[in-house]
Amino acid sequence: MPVGARAVPQPQAAVPFLWANPDPMHDFCYRGDKLYCEGLPVERLAKEFGTPLYVYSEHTLTEHFRRLDSSMASIEHTICFAVKSNSNLAVLKTLAALGGGFDIVSAGELQRVMAAGGEPGRCVFAGVGKSESEIELALRRGIYSFTAESEPELRRIDRIAGRLKKVAPVAVRVNPNVAAGGHRKITTGTYENKFGLAQEEIEGVYERAAKLRHLRLRGIQMHIGSQITEVAPFAKAVGKVLPLVKRLQQRHGLEFFSIGGGLGIVYDPALASGSPEWWKTAQAREILTPAKYAARLLPLLEPLRMRILMEPGRFISGNGGILVTRVQYLKRTGKKTFVIVDAAMNDLIRPAFYEAYHEIVPLRRRNGARISSDVVGPICESGDYFCRDRPLPSLGEGDYLALMSAGAYGSVMASNYNSRPLPAEVLVRGRRAAVVRRRQPTQETWRGEALAPWQS
Ligand code: LLP
Repeated sequence: MPVGARAVPQPQAAVPFLWANPDPMHDFCYRGDKLYCEGLPVERLAKEFGTPLYVYSEHTLTEHFRRLDSSMASIEHTICFAVKSNSNLAVLKTLAALGGGFDIVSAGELQRVMAAGGEPGRCVFAGVGKSESEIELALRRGIYSFTAESEPELRRIDRIAGRLKKVAPVAVRVNPNVAAGGHRKITTGTYENKFGLAQEEIEGVYERAAKLRHLRLRGIQMHIGSQITEVAPFAKAVGKVLPLVKRLQQRHGLEFFSIGGGLGIVYDPALASGSPEWWKTAQAREILTPAKYAARLLPLLEPLRMRILMEPGRFISGNGGILVTRVQYLKRTGKKTFVIVDAAMNDLIRPAFYEAYHEIVPLRRRNGARISSDVVGPICESGDYFCRDRPLPSLGEGDYLALMSAGAYGSVMASNYNSRPLPAEVLVRGRRAAVVRRRQPTQETWRGEALAPWQS
């Protein structure tokens, strides 16, 4: 084994194990030596549709939604899927069909939800910078509620609603000042960041808002961050704001309390490698499951007798997708083995942007020594990497790899940097696959651009 390589558990037959374990993470697993998505070998999809390719499992998306939904069954609730995590129309349609609502942050997301057959009346509209035209569109379409993040925004919503002769349903986002979340760029629930209003100010804000004639104070919202892998911060934040929520409910007759999203998922290597032993580890016992989430939160929320909204994104979409890429070259320098693949940071920016971990597995499993490798893309930046110094099987040109858990904040954060077209996306149901986003033709990457008149 080369220097720097570390022995990692060899993948086992994953299908029987995945469904036998108490918490199936997803439907991407090996059968024999091939990685499958549900009933299809992923390599077949890669050959048919090319790479880089996002592949989504409809069953995984559905299962995660259902598990969260059923864990909260004892209270009136709505799961508002955070569209920002994955806004593909087919993904939105899948969740709309399950009765889900949506957490949106722009007019574009509202229009997407509608294009996918979702109802505006099941949408909550968050974000610190809603423009006049966005507010107007949301009012005209009849969203369930705005999540207002400042008093100037409340006044703006009131003014526009008055002009349209409508009453705008609003909630105010309370910042519970609880630090949580995986990375400084994704914590949101402390006074250090731009989101929401401090708990101490909220009652005054509601008093003043109650005087605005075109607002209906419909709810209250909080969200503390993303990729939170323990229940404790959620329970702490809900517990902290609960007395306030009760007072506001009594005084203003609020209908709902949104406890936000942020439920973390497992990006860990041992999981997707499918070791049955993994489930016996302390780490497995620590996993945030809907059952644990509900067990801690329901006792706090049940007595409120309010409608509870949740805004999960990653929990539903994260493990529901992978990014498939193909090895272009192997390059060995003095110290390192670089595996140069055809996907890049423009397709999946999370490792470059947040130093995020994505497990990387070959579509054809292989045994043997592992080699400490850097998997990198073709973009001209040293930040364009998917992993560094990671023990991977020995790879060759033309091999296919899967970047796991790429269903959330993957394709939505893709760009045309380096004039690279956006990847294609495929949705799998059982043995069927459908292209739910065609690969962007290269010419489209400059669509809308023009020469200045003096240049022709
Ligand atoms: N609700 C609000 C108000 C949010 O700001 C967010 C995420 C969510 C719900 C959904 O959070 P989730 O359940 O997906 O954790 N791009 C980053 C994550 C940014 C999250 C932003 N807000 C990443 O790739 O990790």
